[in-house]
Amino acid sequence: MQTWIDDRHCSDSASTLHTRLGLPLLSEASAEHFYDPEKDALLSWQTPKKSVMPQLTLIPPNTGAISIDFLGGKKAHRRQFGGGKGQPLVRAMGSLEERLPDVFDATAGMGGDSFVLASLGFNVWMNERSPIVHALLQDALERAQNADDLEPETREIIERLKLTNGDSAEIIRHSEQQLETIYLDPMYPEKKKKAATKKEMAALQQLLGPDMDSSDLLDAALSKASYRVVVKRPKGAEPIAHDTLPTTAVQSPNTRYDIYVIKTLKR
Ligand SMILES: C[S@@+](CC[C@H](N)C(=O)[O-])C[C@H]1O[C@@H](n2cnc3c(N)ncnc32)[C@H](O)[C@@H]1O
Repeated sequence: MQTWIDDRHCSDSASTLHTRLGLPLLSEASAEHFYDPEKDALLSWQTPKKSVMPQLTLIPPNTGAISIDFLGGKKAHRRQFGGGKGQPLVRAMGSLEERLPDVFDATAGMGGDSFVLASLGFNVWMNERSPIVHALLQDALERAQNADDLEPETREIIERLKLTNGDSAEIIRHSEQQLETIYLDPMYPEKKKKAATKKEMAALQQLLGPDMDSSDLLDAALSKASYRVVVKRPKGAEPIAHDTLPTTAVQSPNTRYDIYVIKTLKR
């Protein structure tokens, strides 16, 4: 699938992204002759209703457009109504009375899980290997960092998020930094029912396909995490193939969080 960068509205941003990603620019002329919205994806800047800031938006063929907004929309909603510290993702992070462990989110995707964790006080290093998905995340993070009307609480959440681009297995293996909790939420090879129909995940699946190297990523994570590794799986799925089985798990209606407790594993 060819992805284009829309050069028709935000020319400066388009040429910066073109230099970074090496994807072709879509001009009025190429739009007419070469761009096929039924086969090609487009990275474009769109200004949502009630906003003045254009957001980098991925318009894939066949599924709805997606962009990331840390300050409004679903992420703000999930932060407000998502269940706080009682939600399964957070319970999977362990007993958090003394100090919250730092989290390396090795499969950042649309940043939803990272944002929930940051909103509950975790420092989260998000890493994403797809340059296109990383560009969406970076656009959202920069918009949030540069917003001048942020409430102090929201500014603190944004300051807890750090973003990098690359393969997490490589980064984990070469990191000199202590990685406490490593979180994995790879794209499932098996067909998911409900989750796959969510617009964002459907678009990511179309763009990226399944992550076939999750057991290597788990291997790297288990060799490095000092506190625990948490892996999100669909309910009923096998744990990621590995010689090590999860120590325990937290269940929710559609999802299971497999937990590999490192201290126990290393004893
Ligand atoms: C299911 S999505 C993650 C969704 C994310 N938890 C969220 O809340 O939006 C999986 C993402 O992990 C990324 N990914 C998978 N394996 C990776 C790896 N080894 N290194 C970096 N990113 C990886 C994929 O490119 C994809 O964007």
